[in-house]
Amino acid sequence: MFLTKDEERIYEGECGWANQICMKILVHLGELFNATKLISINSAHVSGVSYKTLGDAPTEFLKALLDAGGKVKVRATLNPQSFDNEYLSKRLDEDLRRKQWNVLRLFEKMGFMPSFTCTPYYLEEPTQGAHLAWAESSAVVYANSVIGAWTNREGGPSALAAAIVGKTPDYGIHKSENRQPKVLVTLKTRLQNETEFGALGICLGNILEDKIPVIQGIKNASKENLKQLSAALATMGMINMFHLKDASAKVKKLEKITIEDKDLRKTIENLSTTSKSKPDLVFIGCPHCSLNEIKEIAYLIDGKKVKSGTELWICTSRHNKKKAEHYIKKIERSGAHIITDTCAVVTWTDKLGIKTIMTNSAKTAHYAPTLNKAETIFATLKKCITTATEG
Ligand code: F3S
Repeated sequence: MFLTKDEERIYEGECGWANQICMKILVHLGELFNATKLISINSAHVSGVSYKTLGDAPTEFLKALLDAGGKVKVRATLNPQSFDNEYLSKRLDEDLRRKQWNVLRLFEKMGFMPSFTCTPYYLEEPTQGAHLAWAESSAVVYANSVIGAWTNREGGPSALAAAIVGKTPDYGIHKSENRQPKVLVTLKTRLQNETEFGALGICLGNILEDKIPVIQGIKNASKENLKQLSAALATMGMINMFHLKDASAKVKKLEKITIEDKDLRKTIENLSTTSKSKPDLVFIGCPHCSLNEIKEIAYLIDGKKVKSGTELWICTSRHNKKKAEHYIKKIERSGAHIITDTCAVVTWTDKLGIKTIMTNSAKTAHYAPTLNKAETIFATLKKCITTATEG
């Protein structure tokens, strides 16, 4: 791999151990994927912030980086952590809280923004064509496909290294030849709501592995529905982007697959693991809610009360919570909890006694049985709100 004089100095340790080890991570990664050089990035987004998924060994590495003078060189944001300061932190063990706070302190001292969201694009949308090093898979697919930015699906360590060096190896989806579609997907059904977009993502992720699809048959999708498609696609396969095309557009010769209504119904059915209709927790906000979603929830819940015995969590970023103050008040009057900084998947719902989770997110429905040891009920936002308020 070609390194500039400055990059070589970092590689040789002239700028300290923290920069050297991060440069070595990037060069090693680049060599694995035959990159010929490093490129500058506009931002980095690091996952693996929740102590639940992180554990102790990476915490030691973060401490070593900080002690050796590690500092971010670009805008660097963080994925959700394992609790919020207002509601969940009070319900979790002191020991877990202390360990999580320790991780956050290390990140913040290195200059990371305390964003704690999986939707960093709502804080500041990257420009089209900007090169990024993002590690949250749902945000990677959304950034490449909906925003038109360019990012590989980084792991936690490579995004961290990219944040500190300010560069990433030039391979994969940073090169236009690797952004071309390989499979034409024809949709023979009209997607009606976010759960169907999520189900399409799970269905395609299963079939396509890492082949980029061009999907024909999606009309006027909202960005929120494309967010669900992005999150679900990333959940099942290694796909980092999709393209959308009008059904009448001509597409050059590609492998072809068709998705019919029955494929989506089957996927939706499989995303529920129980026939119970009463969840302990109704969880909305995977990925974190947009302003539009918060407005819609406020409209649906206005004047209603969350039933006793059920919790309703709506997860979003601090940034969006602040912007939606008026709607948040309406939602909170119902007894629902607006939770920032975390989500049901990356907190310890099992320690809170939650055994059944209802959600409108295909990603959560897929992960909750293993990561939360919970049964899942997969349902639309409207059904989730009705269940939380009427049973
Ligand atoms: Fe975000 Fe948690 Fe879902 S981090 S993408 S809300 S699993």
